[in-house]
Amino acid sequence: MVTSSAPGKVYLFGEHAVVFGEPAVPCAIERRARVSVSARDDDHIRVQAHDLSLDGFTVEYTGSTVERPNIDVSPDLVEAAMGYIEEAVEQARDAASEPTRGFDIDVESDIPLGAGLGSSAAVVVAVIDAATRELGVSLPRMELAERAYQAESQVQHGEASRADTFCSTMGGAVRVEEKDTHQLGTPNLPLVIGFDGGAGDTAELVAAVRSMRDRFQFAAETIQTIGDVVRQGEQMLGQTSSDTAYEQAKLSEIGELMNFNHGLLSALGVSTRSLDAMVWAAREAGAYGAKLTGAGGGGCIVAVDPTAETQRALEYTAACIETFSAELDDDGVRVEES
Ligand code: PMV
Repeated sequence: MVTSSAPGKVYLFGEHAVVFGEPAVPCAIERRARVSVSARDDDHIRVQAHDLSLDGFTVEYTGSTVERPNIDVSPDLVEAAMGYIEEAVEQARDAASEPTRGFDIDVESDIPLGAGLGSSAAVVVAVIDAATRELGVSLPRMELAERAYQAESQVQHGEASRADTFCSTMGGAVRVEEKDTHQLGTPNLPLVIGFDGGAGDTAELVAAVRSMRDRFQFAAETIQTIGDVVRQGEQMLGQTSSDTAYEQAKLSEIGELMNFNHGLLSALGVSTRSLDAMVWAAREAGAYGAKLTGAGGGGCIVAVDPTAETQRALEYTAACIETFSAELDDDGVRVEES
């Protein structure tokens, strides 16, 4: 048996626009999916999944992946999660040249499903890493990231960027623009997350943005403007100083750009009342900035605040069911046990 883990992420800037060729900057956070994989003698796949929500509910699958489990989680979410695992298994089989190999797969994740924290990417990366290692193959990280992207892209009908999977594989903050992917290091950012308990359907939301972009020139321009925000933001991230006033000014500009980015995402129709409520609670509590993270349609926001005020405000915000401060995780995918 091999156990691998991979981190979730937040988008500091650039989700959605990245699907249309603009750059994005996601950052890995210290919330992980851990996946244990044992090879089987037959071609069956058995998946067990636990704790797929911040709230700690349990999802269990037994039997082959064809028999869907009877659980109290939205069947759509379960279908989506299973789709990602099945595609990850296909990639591992292909990488190890064992096209019919079966696996027992145990997933434990402290990243809520479909909430914009990259749960699917973390699971896909960890499944491919653990399953290939279990078959004696150790993939270079760039190949692992590419295979994880291919798996996500299959499930999302081609509507996926490399941002989530590259970030989860490499850790830290990364920049992704089409096929051009690289690491930006691990800036010191005091991130606070708020979760509304909901989840958006990434493929559906991406398709809705595409449709708006096709119909309205100003929507296409909005997407390009998000790209401009990212280009401005990445310059700020690259600069560090021991001067406290400078660091504060930098956080202030990053926050302002995050606020702008949220407004543009909202214009594209992917925010919701509860995401907006959390964003405003963070801003009113004195956060440097706040925005939704990921596909939207429900899920999480990310704010920048070195004090405890944003987290406290979110605790008292009706729309928010869970809030935590998040350290950046510069580790990426790693083997936990083999
Ligand atoms: O909500 P998530 O974590 O699946 O992020 C989706 C981000 C998008 O830019 C909307 C899609 C993508 O693949 O980049």
